[in-house]
Amino acid sequence: MSRQSTKTDNKSIANKIFIRKEAIKNLKEVKVLDLFAGRNVLWNNIKTDKYFGIDIQENKGKNLNADTRDVFDNIDLSQFNVIDCDSYGIAFDLYKKLLTRNELQKGTRIIYTAITNEFTKIQNVAKQEFNFKHFYDKAPSLFNARAIEFFYEFLSKYGISEVNYYAIRDNFDKHYGYFIAI
Ligand SMILES: C[S@@+](CC[C@H](N)C(=O)[O-])C[C@H]1O[C@@H](n2cnc3c(N)ncnc32)[C@H](O)[C@@H]1O
Repeated sequence: MSRQSTKTDNKSIANKIFIRKEAIKNLKEVKVLDLFAGRNVLWNNIKTDKYFGIDIQENKGKNLNADTRDVFDNIDLSQFNVIDCDSYGIAFDLYKKLLTRNELQKGTRIIYTAITNEFTKIQNVAKQEFNFKHFYDKAPSLFNARAIEFFYEFLSKYGISEVNYYAIRDNFDKHYGYFIAI
Protein backbone atom coordinates (compact mmCIF):
# COMPACT_ATOMS: atom_id res chain seq x y z
CA MET A 1 0.00 0.00 0.00
CA SER A 2 1.24 3.49 -0.81
CA ARG A 3 0.99 5.72 2.24
CA GLN A 4 1.57 9.47 1.99
CA SER A 5 1.93 10.76 5.52
CA THR A 6 2.93 13.91 7.35
CA LYS A 7 3.73 14.03 11.05
CA THR A 8 2.49 17.12 12.83
CA ASP A 9 1.88 18.56 16.25
CA ASN A 10 -0.80 20.99 15.10
CA LYS A 11 -4.21 20.99 16.66
CA SER A 12 -6.57 18.27 15.46
CA ILE A 13 -9.32 20.49 14.10
CA ALA A 14 -7.01 22.37 11.75
CA ASN A 15 -5.55 19.07 10.56
CA LYS A 16 -8.95 17.53 10.09
CA ILE A 17 -10.16 20.48 8.03
CA PHE A 18 -6.97 20.43 6.00
CA ILE A 19 -7.27 16.74 5.14
CA ARG A 20 -10.92 17.23 4.09
CA LYS A 21 -10.00 20.11 1.80
CA GLU A 22 -7.27 17.93 0.29
CA ALA A 23 -9.71 15.04 -0.16
CA ILE A 24 -12.27 17.08 -2.12
CA LYS A 25 -9.78 19.17 -4.12
CA ASN A 26 -10.60 17.69 -7.52
CA LEU A 27 -14.34 17.21 -7.09
CA LYS A 28 -16.75 19.30 -9.18
CA GLU A 29 -19.55 18.78 -6.69
CA VAL A 30 -19.14 18.00 -3.00
CA LYS A 31 -21.92 15.84 -1.57
CA VAL A 32 -21.10 14.87 1.98
CA LEU A 33 -22.46 12.11 4.17
CA ASP A 34 -21.09 12.77 7.65
CA LEU A 35 -21.50 9.61 9.73
CA PHE A 36 -20.30 11.13 13.04
CA ALA A 37 -21.23 14.73 12.48
CA GLY A 38 -21.03 16.20 15.99
CA ARG A 39 -21.42 19.97 15.90
CA ASN A 40 -20.63 20.04 12.16
CA VAL A 41 -17.50 21.98 13.03
CA LEU A 42 -15.41 20.55 10.22
CA TRP A 43 -17.84 20.91 7.31
CA ASN A 44 -19.11 24.30 8.48
CA ASN A 45 -15.67 25.50 7.43
CA ILE A 46 -15.83 23.99 3.94
CA LYS A 47 -18.08 24.80 0.97
CA THR A 48 -20.34 21.88 0.07
CA ASP A 49 -23.15 21.33 -2.45
CA LYS A 50 -24.98 18.88 -0.22
CA TYR A 51 -24.45 17.87 3.39
CA PHE A 52 -26.16 15.22 5.49
CA GLY A 53 -24.95 14.65 9.02
CA ILE A 54 -25.85 12.01 11.59
CA ASP A 55 -25.08 12.08 15.29
CA ILE A 56 -26.25 10.03 18.21
CA GLN A 57 -26.36 13.01 20.53
CA GLU A 58 -29.41 15.23 20.43
CA ASN A 59 -29.10 18.95 19.65
CA LYS A 60 -25.42 18.72 18.92
CA GLY A 61 -25.50 20.02 15.35
CA LYS A 62 -27.80 20.14 12.32
CA ASN A 63 -28.03 16.38 12.03
CA LEU A 64 -30.29 13.41 11.86
CA ASN A 65 -30.32 12.37 15.51
CA ALA A 66 -29.65 8.63 15.33
CA ASP A 67 -27.16 5.89 15.95
CA THR A 68 -25.33 5.70 12.63
CA ARG A 69 -25.20 1.92 12.89
CA ASP A 70 -29.01 1.76 13.09
CA VAL A 71 -29.58 3.80 9.94
CA PHE A 72 -26.51 3.06 7.83
CA ASP A 73 -27.98 0.18 5.81
CA ASN A 74 -30.89 2.39 4.70
CA ILE A 75 -28.81 5.27 3.39
CA ASP A 76 -28.45 5.46 -0.39
CA LEU A 77 -24.69 5.89 -0.69
CA SER A 78 -24.95 6.71 -4.40
CA GLN A 79 -26.22 10.16 -3.41
CA PHE A 80 -22.85 11.11 -1.95
CA ASN A 81 -19.27 11.41 -3.17
CA VAL A 82 -17.69 12.19 0.19
CA ILE A 83 -18.24 9.98 3.22
CA ASP A 84 -16.83 11.23 6.48
CA CYS A 85 -16.19 8.73 9.27
CA ASP A 86 -14.83 10.90 12.10
CA SER A 87 -15.57 8.32 14.78
CA TYR A 88 -13.95 7.68 18.10
CA GLY A 89 -11.60 4.68 17.81
CA ILE A 90 -11.63 2.80 14.49
CA ALA A 91 -15.01 1.91 12.97
CA PHE A 92 -13.91 -1.31 11.22
CA ASP A 93 -17.56 -2.39 10.95
CA LEU A 94 -18.58 0.67 8.96
CA TYR A 95 -15.54 0.61 6.67
CA LYS A 96 -16.32 -2.99 5.86
CA LYS A 97 -19.92 -2.13 5.07
CA LEU A 98 -18.89 0.89 3.01
CA LEU A 99 -16.37 -1.03 0.94
CA THR A 100 -18.75 -3.87 0.21
CA ARG A 101 -21.86 -1.83 -0.67
CA ASN A 102 -22.69 -1.95 -4.38
CA GLU A 103 -23.97 1.58 -4.67
CA LEU A 104 -20.79 3.16 -3.31
CA GLN A 105 -19.67 5.31 -6.24
CA LYS A 106 -16.20 4.83 -7.67
CA GLY A 107 -14.17 7.92 -6.81
CA THR A 108 -15.99 8.58 -3.55
CA ARG A 109 -13.67 10.13 -1.00
CA ILE A 110 -13.79 8.27 2.27
CA ILE A 111 -12.39 10.32 5.08
CA TYR A 112 -11.30 8.45 8.19
CA THR A 113 -10.18 9.03 11.71
CA ALA A 114 -8.23 6.16 13.25
CA ILE A 115 -7.29 6.53 16.89
CA THR A 116 -5.82 3.96 19.20
CA ASN A 117 -3.56 3.22 22.13
CA GLU A 118 -2.93 0.04 24.07
CA PHE A 119 -6.17 0.47 26.07
CA THR A 120 -8.50 1.09 23.11
CA LYS A 121 -10.37 -2.10 22.30
CA ILE A 122 -10.41 -3.37 18.73
CA GLN A 123 -13.81 -4.20 17.26
CA ASN A 124 -14.77 -7.85 16.83
CA VAL A 125 -15.07 -7.32 13.07
CA ALA A 126 -11.30 -6.81 12.90
CA LYS A 127 -10.57 -9.76 15.18
CA GLN A 128 -12.64 -11.97 12.90
CA GLU A 129 -11.12 -10.53 9.75
CA PHE A 130 -7.60 -11.35 10.93
CA ASN A 131 -8.55 -14.40 12.94
CA PHE A 132 -6.82 -13.33 16.15
CA LYS A 133 -9.66 -13.38 18.67
CA HIS A 134 -8.10 -16.18 20.69
CA PHE A 135 -4.69 -14.46 20.91
CA TYR A 136 -6.30 -11.07 21.50
CA ASP A 137 -7.99 -12.24 24.67
CA LYS A 138 -4.62 -13.33 26.06
CA ALA A 139 -2.80 -10.04 25.44
CA PRO A 140 -5.20 -7.31 24.25
CA SER A 141 -2.80 -4.41 24.75
CA LEU A 142 -0.34 -5.86 22.22
CA PHE A 143 -3.05 -5.88 19.57
CA ASN A 144 -4.67 -2.58 20.58
CA ALA A 145 -1.38 -0.76 20.14
CA ARG A 146 -1.20 -2.03 16.55
CA ALA A 147 -4.81 -1.29 15.62
CA ILE A 148 -3.92 1.33 13.02
CA GLU A 149 -1.62 -1.14 11.24
CA PHE A 150 -4.49 -3.61 11.23
CA PHE A 151 -6.70 -0.88 9.81
CA TYR A 152 -4.39 -0.36 6.83
CA GLU A 153 -4.10 -4.09 6.28
CA PHE A 154 -7.87 -4.28 6.43
CA LEU A 155 -8.23 -1.57 3.76
CA SER A 156 -5.73 -3.44 1.56
CA LYS A 157 -7.82 -6.57 1.85
CA TYR A 158 -10.75 -4.58 0.47
CA GLY A 159 -8.75 -3.27 -2.46
CA ILE A 160 -7.58 0.12 -1.20
CA SER A 161 -3.96 0.54 -2.17
CA GLU A 162 -3.41 4.21 -1.38
CA VAL A 163 -4.20 6.43 1.59
CA ASN A 164 -3.23 9.98 2.53
CA TYR A 165 -3.09 10.95 6.15
CA TYR A 166 -1.74 13.08 8.95
CA ALA A 167 -0.32 11.28 11.97
CA ILE A 168 -0.23 12.71 15.45
CA ARG A 169 1.15 10.96 18.49
CA ASP A 170 0.28 12.01 22.05
CA ASN A 171 -1.33 9.59 24.50
CA PHE A 172 -2.90 8.04 21.44
CA ASP A 173 -1.83 7.24 17.90
CA LYS A 174 -4.08 9.32 15.66
CA HIS A 175 -4.33 9.17 11.91
CA TYR A 176 -6.55 11.62 10.02
CA GLY A 177 -6.77 10.62 6.41
CA TYR A 178 -8.71 9.74 3.31
CA PHE A 179 -8.78 7.25 0.49
CA ILE A 180 -10.65 6.98 -2.77
CA ALA A 181 -13.18 4.23 -3.45
CA ILE A 182 -12.23 2.08 -6.43
C1 LIG B 1 -15.03 13.06 16.90
S1 LIG B 1 -16.67 13.55 17.09
C2 LIG B 1 -17.04 14.18 15.51
C3 LIG B 1 -16.95 15.67 15.40
C4 LIG B 1 -17.45 16.23 14.08
N1 LIG B 1 -16.65 15.78 12.97
C5 LIG B 1 -17.55 17.74 14.08
O1 LIG B 1 -17.11 18.36 13.12
O2 LIG B 1 -18.06 18.30 15.02
C6 LIG B 1 -17.52 12.01 17.12
C7 LIG B 1 -19.04 12.17 17.18
O3 LIG B 1 -19.60 10.87 17.03
C8 LIG B 1 -20.81 10.84 17.76
N2 LIG B 1 -21.16 9.42 17.91
C9 LIG B 1 -20.56 8.48 18.70
N3 LIG B 1 -21.12 7.27 18.49
C10 LIG B 1 -22.07 7.44 17.52
C11 LIG B 1 -22.96 6.57 16.85
N4 LIG B 1 -23.01 5.26 17.15
N5 LIG B 1 -23.78 7.07 15.91
C12 LIG B 1 -23.75 8.39 15.61
N6 LIG B 1 -22.93 9.28 16.21
C13 LIG B 1 -22.09 8.81 17.15
C14 LIG B 1 -20.50 11.60 19.03
O4 LIG B 1 -21.67 12.13 19.60
C15 LIG B 1 -19.57 12.71 18.49
O5 LIG B 1 -20.31 13.88 18.21
